[in-house]
Amino acid sequence: ETTKTQLGSARDIEEMIKTCPQHSCSWLKGKSTLFKYQDFWSHEVIIKKVVSAQQSFKARPTDVFLCSYPKSGTTWLKALVFAIVTREKFDESSNPLLTNLPHNFIPFLEIQPEQVVASQENSSFAHVATHLPYNSLPKSILASNCKMVYVYRNVKDVIVSYYHFMREVFKLPMEDAPFEEAFDEFYHGISGYGPYWDHILGYWKESKERPEIILFLKYEDLKKEPTINVKKLAEFIGYPFTIEEEKAGVIESIIKLCSFENLSNLEVNKNGYANEMIENRLFFRKAKDEDWKNYFTDEMIEKIDNLIYEKLGAIGLVL
Ligand code: A3P
Repeated sequence: ETTKTQLGSARDIEEMIKTCPQHSCSWLKGKSTLFKYQDFWSHEVIIKKVVSAQQSFKARPTDVFLCSYPKSGTTWLKALVFAIVTREKFDESSNPLLTNLPHNFIPFLEIQPEQVVASQENSSFAHVATHLPYNSLPKSILASNCKMVYVYRNVKDVIVSYYHFMREVFKLPMEDAPFEEAFDEFYHGISGYGPYWDHILGYWKESKERPEIILFLKYEDLKKEPTINVKKLAEFIGYPFTIEEEKAGVIESIIKLCSFENLSNLEVNKNGYANEMIENRLFFRKAKDEDWKNYFTDEMIEKIDNLIYEKLGAIGLVL
């Protein structure tokens, strides 16, 4: 394993990345290359920022981390947390979520480190997102006992969501990006921040040890029972709803504001851009449970079910 202390300059980091295992994604026509750093796969630009966050990021005990594997409900979780935390500042018509992509309010540690530092400077308790696996988090996050919310989702729906997101980012129509190849790669653990099962397992193990620090939320449960779960989320991050708020329907209005139906139909989320490569609409595809049924063959179902059973069966997490 690469030790961070050995890496000084940006050049050292580049040299280190060159020594990592590499994979050019065939189904994306070689437009995306992943590198395996520590125990996960990611892009070179991100790994550079990860190394630097691991070396210098200073978490404070009051900072709260929203952790997820990509395509598991990150955008939704960010919207909910922002709406919960700012509920006294805005009403239904003035909430900035109506005119901004939710990602703009809660930056990713390994993608927008400058914004993370700025949000720490602006507030004594920053909300920070990350897709990093638990074992690769900067040590100061663990040492500060920061609270973490982890959202996870059915693996087959994650695969389908990831497939469409990546092929759209690289502007490939479905006929040019074979789903079977995308599945195969994911199945072999090669996907952004993958393997997926290791990602879940890392946070799960820690949440068993320290339940007061990590809240596990399941995407499908959030959908089925939004009120109970949004209440749990608000309490966990230190913004519990009062009885008066509950009676006044504040929880329901937050759920409505952050719903897929509402957010996906906003002008900003239909036509805006997150950055040069990513259109906002890519974060709002269908949000449908079991969309995987339209893509998986019987053989794929059997393969992934067996793998998940082998990897996660012992902990009884239902994916
Ligand atoms: P689909 O591709 O299945 O539609 P992430 O935010 O982690 O990138 O995950 C994206 C997935 O969450 C996409 O799934 C997207 O449609 C769904 N999603 C985005 N906003 C949502 C919301 N407000 N409520 C429920 N699902 C949402």
